[in-house]
Amino acid sequence: MKVKSIKQAKNIEGKRVVLRVDFNVPIKNGVVLNDYKIKRQLPTIEFLLEKKCKIILITHLGRPEGKFKKDLSIRPVIDILEEELCRDIKIIKNISGFEGGSVASYMKNGDIVAFENIRFEPGEEKNSKNLAKNLAKLGDVYVNDAFGVSHRAHASLSAIQKYLPAFAGLLLEKEVLNLSKVFDAKKPFVLVIGGNKIKTKVPLIKAFYRKADKILVGGALANNFFRIHDFEIGKSLTDKESLKFAQKFKNKKIVLPVDVVISAVKGAKNPVAKDLININKGDYIYDIGPKTIKLFSDIIKKANTIIWNGPMGLFEENGFHHGTMAMANVIAGRSRGKAFGVVGGGETIEALQKTKMIDAVDWASTGGGASLAFLGKKKMPGLRKIVTR
Ligand code: 3PG
Repeated sequence: MKVKSIKQAKNIEGKRVVLRVDFNVPIKNGVVLNDYKIKRQLPTIEFLLEKKCKIILITHLGRPEGKFKKDLSIRPVIDILEEELCRDIKIIKNISGFEGGSVASYMKNGDIVAFENIRFEPGEEKNSKNLAKNLAKLGDVYVNDAFGVSHRAHASLSAIQKYLPAFAGLLLEKEVLNLSKVFDAKKPFVLVIGGNKIKTKVPLIKAFYRKADKILVGGALANNFFRIHDFEIGKSLTDKESLKFAQKFKNKKIVLPVDVVISAVKGAKNPVAKDLININKGDYIYDIGPKTIKLFSDIIKKANTIIWNGPMGLFEENGFHHGTMAMANVIAGRSRGKAFGVVGGGETIEALQKTKMIDAVDWASTGGGASLAFLGKKKMPGLRKIVTR
């Protein structure tokens, strides 16, 4: 896999760079709750500043669907960036207005300006050529460091690459190089899948179904497999799509939990570990149980390649976090040396951060849906001119 890295760009010094980042981070009441993704993209900004480039920064935040939404302003993420870089960054409200169009004319070398949430622009999610052209006019070079959203065919990711020479930022380059190592996976190869959205995980399971020796399934996804094996699952979450998928993939490679942690009331209270055969009609399954932790850990400890995506349960609730935390510890413990361990997805990264083991895995991808799409060999419009297979 070849990556056109920004490090290879000739005569970049002092150039105007349209830099697409993914600063889509959780924010509550104007406060950034987790700045991990922002910090991982700082090296590219610092690299461009060293080269005295003029940086025109673009990010999305949330899903405003082409309309201005005050609570989705990028102000809180720019505050973090200003603090990290010890400099002021002006936010420009409107790309198509005069201020937007003329911004590059008054920028000095080493200046940064940021455009407001690019998803306020109706053309962004439509991959509009017009918007892409307007963005391209501002720069000499385009750099994409937004791996986390590169599975989307959006104007600031895909169409813009028609109009400017395109390069990978330093994080995006590492994402591609590390994630693609999994394509030559050493066996035993173990896939650990959790969470609740089967739709996003299907490409990953399909891509590695033959290659994987074991697929360990936890989280709400497992409920669908329990149901097709006729286990009582009480009031636990299932969905039609996942049930259909579980039916298709029910076989020996899939390893399911043998016990779970339930709450007898909705909302994860008073955790009780139970064997699967003892689930009552009123129970809610919210985590894998201790016997399953041992079963999954024993398999992971023998793996030479591990991919993990999705928590094993409601890990943000006390008493229902043990399964996810245990997987974080055992996967991190096995990675870097004994096995090649790759972890992806917002919640999965959060769990690894909680165990303080994030640096122990070989690669923690900033992409949730994007890492699943990449590993599942789906189209990645944001990489079209940057990466060749
Ligand atoms: C993410 O946070 O996963 C990326 O920024 C992509 O966001 P999206 O799913 O809203 O496109």
